[in-house]
Amino acid sequence: MASMVSTLSAIVSGLPLFRKPSLYAHSNCSRLVYPFLRTSFNPISAHLSSFSKARAINSSGLDEDLVVLGIETSCDDTAAAIVRSNGEILSQVVSSQADLLARFGGVAPKMAEEAHAQVIDQVVQEALDLAKLNEEDLSAVAVTIGPGLSLCLRVGVRKARKLAGTNVLPIIGVHHMEAHALVARLVERELKFPFMALLISGGHNLLILARDLGHYIQLGTTIDDAIGEAYDKTAKWLGLDLRKSGGPALEELAREGDPNSVKFKVPMKQHKDCNFSYAGLKTQVRLAIESKSIDSGIPISSASTEDKLARANIAASFQRVAVLHLEEKCERAIEWALKIEPSIKHLVVSGGVASNQHVRARLNEVVGRTGLQLVCPPPSLCTDNGVMIAWTGIEHFQMGRYDPPPPACEPADALLDLRPRWPLGEEFVEGRSEARSLRTARIHPSLTSLIQASMERQ
Ligand code: KG4
Ligand code: ZN
Repeated sequence: MASMVSTLSAIVSGLPLFRKPSLYAHSNCSRLVYPFLRTSFNPISAHLSSFSKARAINSSGLDEDLVVLGIETSCDDTAAAIVRSNGEILSQVVSSQADLLARFGGVAPKMAEEAHAQVIDQVVQEALDLAKLNEEDLSAVAVTIGPGLSLCLRVGVRKARKLAGTNVLPIIGVHHMEAHALVARLVERELKFPFMALLISGGHNLLILARDLGHYIQLGTTIDDAIGEAYDKTAKWLGLDLRKSGGPALEELAREGDPNSVKFKVPMKQHKDCNFSYAGLKTQVRLAIESKSIDSGIPISSASTEDKLARANIAASFQRVAVLHLEEKCERAIEWALKIEPSIKHLVVSGGVASNQHVRARLNEVVGRTGLQLVCPPPSLCTDNGVMIAWTGIEHFQMGRYDPPPPACEPADALLDLRPRWPLGEEFVEGRSEARSLRTARIHPSLTSLIQASMERQ
């Protein structure tokens, strides 16, 4: 049984996710620690916290001199990075579980947890070393608390809380998908709210209207699988080397095939909404592979020339239709979003699948037709990384949304606030479709509703 509730347990304790700075005590260490107020200097905590040092405040009243560590362990990458609030990336480290993925053909949560646990200390230390910083030099720690696999999230959150507790640093719980969207604001400093975002990864396919920091309207999502999952399964069935991860391997093979050779149907044509479905396309691909007698047990490197071409044709045809589905829904979502917020100028495309060149080229055409501009972070910031977590932490921290340092001696069995299924925004009511209503189960209220509720209480 857990002996105490962590400070990140907003849902468990009924408190808002992020609290305004306030006086608090280390509950189990009976040591009084003062609030991390940006403007005041407290001599008692000065030696404990780098945050209370004099700082550069810019004309918008934002602190330019924060140095934040971001930790990401929601799925199969263990990542850490250190970012300065002026946008400078001081270090970035990613340890991937590609070998495990190749061996098991997908993410096995228990194995992934163990793999994270084995490397997390080293990954964080390397991020500090590369940035030439010590833990005490940090201003705050940001960590992904959801959505993702609980077992994996726990490893990152434990590490973040230990480091923040020992060094008396504030901590920011980050939404993984918000981080995929906001990292675009680090790359493109002119990117202002409101903007649109298409977030495409292994587990998510989201079309959102970002109205403000922490305020998102979900225009569309997937009713079954995400596009990344479809890439990964297709790559596995085509016998590709998964050590590069399925998506990039399939993108490479698709270059050698004819995208019009296999007639796959574009999903959800009859649904005039912004939702996605990739389960049916996966089935179409599986049937095509069976009909061509392709043996996925034979690696592509050992396949005959004819067999290799058949696989490349399926890869190219799959990619064409998978991306056409994105294009169609994106075009409609832009129309909807411009009706809600006519001042939108940008479409952000982020998440692992956004590193795909074909995806980028096709979506660039879509935004060209609609008069918007495309913002695509570089591939290393599209796939899971610590930079996006640190940056999202910085954005929220500057708004005063963070938790106080955890107790320095938090017990190992402390109940942690992990949010494996955590929507980013509220669904756009007029866009709700029959297909979508089939999947309503959710565990946590959305990030947007939590932040709005906490703002109303203030
Ligand atoms: O965002 P991400 O790194 O992790 C999740 O949050 O899921 O996305 C991983 C997904 C995987 O499905 C991977 O195959 C896919 O992104 N991906 C790609 C490419 N690079 C990564 N898919 C297509 N083409 C790529 N170049
Ligand atoms: Zn991701």
